[in-house]
Amino acid sequence: MPSNKTAVMKEIDAQIAELEMKYAEYKSRGLKLNMTRGKPCDQQLDISAEMNSVLPPEDYLAEDGTDCRNYGGLDGIPEARRLFADLLGTNFENVMVAGNSSLNMMYDNMLRALLFPLPGSEKSWSAQGQVKFLCPVPGYDRHFFVTQSLGIEMINVPMTEQGPDMDVVEALVASDPMIKGMWSVPVYSNPDGIVYSEEVCRRLAGMKTAAQDFRIFLDNAYNVHHLYSDKKNSIPDMISLCAELGNPDRVFEFASTSKVTYAGAGMAAIASSEENLNWMRKHMSAQTIGPDKLNQLRHVRFLKNAEGVYEVMDKHAAILRPKFELVLDLLEKNLADFDACHWQKPEGGYFISVYVSEGTASEVVRLSNECGVALTPAGNTYPYGQDPANSNIRLAPSFPPLDELRQAIEIFSVCVKLASLRKLKEQSN
Ligand SMILES: Cc1ncc(COP(=O)(O)O)c(C=O)c1O
Repeated sequence: MPSNKTAVMKEIDAQIAELEMKYAEYKSRGLKLNMTRGKPCDQQLDISAEMNSVLPPEDYLAEDGTDCRNYGGLDGIPEARRLFADLLGTNFENVMVAGNSSLNMMYDNMLRALLFPLPGSEKSWSAQGQVKFLCPVPGYDRHFFVTQSLGIEMINVPMTEQGPDMDVVEALVASDPMIKGMWSVPVYSNPDGIVYSEEVCRRLAGMKTAAQDFRIFLDNAYNVHHLYSDKKNSIPDMISLCAELGNPDRVFEFASTSKVTYAGAGMAAIASSEENLNWMRKHMSAQTIGPDKLNQLRHVRFLKNAEGVYEVMDKHAAILRPKFELVLDLLEKNLADFDACHWQKPEGGYFISVYVSEGTASEVVRLSNECGVALTPAGNTYPYGQDPANSNIRLAPSFPPLDELRQAIEIFSVCVKLASLRKLKEQSN
């Protein structure tokens, strides 16, 4: 036995030495590569260049005669509402179109719910005690930042390949009336790229909650962001499904054109029940006279209709697909034999979620950063920045050009192995 152990240790030492040499060589290149945020690249932004000049000076009337240059129209212009209704597969009456950011709408709605009673309740969330929210993990760091900054306690719920673990969700929401809501990214979840199954959607829509004023914040940010034309994944219309299963006010659904036209300069929408929208209108009318309707008009003139959006999205996919495939091919080439590591193979969205050896994600990120590859900080995909297994790393392939991506993933792979083998050695000593 001892001699066997010595042989194994020698082998590990040899592998570490080889990786350290590679690492030192990469480090000497003085690279500066960035894979942190899911931003569209310049080529993707160029797809919408025509939108900048699509509105001649005399074109400012919406289809209902609204002068988009002037105040008013809290709900957004009808053609923009119809466009989002078609994209989300829901009804025109259930949609409002607002400003440039869906995250902004999520924050506003959460703040409103904390301050003002929701339909179905006498009291606001904050008047009832410590508010809690379910957070499927791993998830979107900015969702967690919103909830944390508003003092809401976050409870992790594990994700499965079909969506959040519904046994856990159902048990929690049935038992605690202070669980007031849940984050959800149902199509190409950030970061795993998971699409909720129909069964998960039905269970979310129909489950019994102890809270009368429970809301799912359904962030459908990647609804039309497919990578493959023959794999266009979708979920059922959650507004109708919730109504059908007796919970008409359960969902606030959000979407935007941030990754269709311009990131942060697109238009954002919410879909919800009539009651929920009326509640929003009441509070929004104190907040604003109305959204930027000229931006909405510009978008609709450029995108035209749902078909027009799908055409634009095919152009995005043509740019993104080679990047995703490159990253996945390199992970396969470099890490497939490395049992401690696995990753998701998304069919859409903006991220590739990698699980490295437990306990090493923060070290992998540190090593990569020191070598000039900026990665999303380990833990970012979990509430409070704490990944209990210290294992998940979110890679964002959209922004860097292909040659930079290649270098970044080669370096990342060396760091994954190095961190893992060093840990193994430490444990064996
Ligand atoms: C899941 C998710 N929701 C929302 C956003 C931001 O949306 P918006 O630009 O409409 O605020 C992002 C951006 O990365 C995202 O990944």
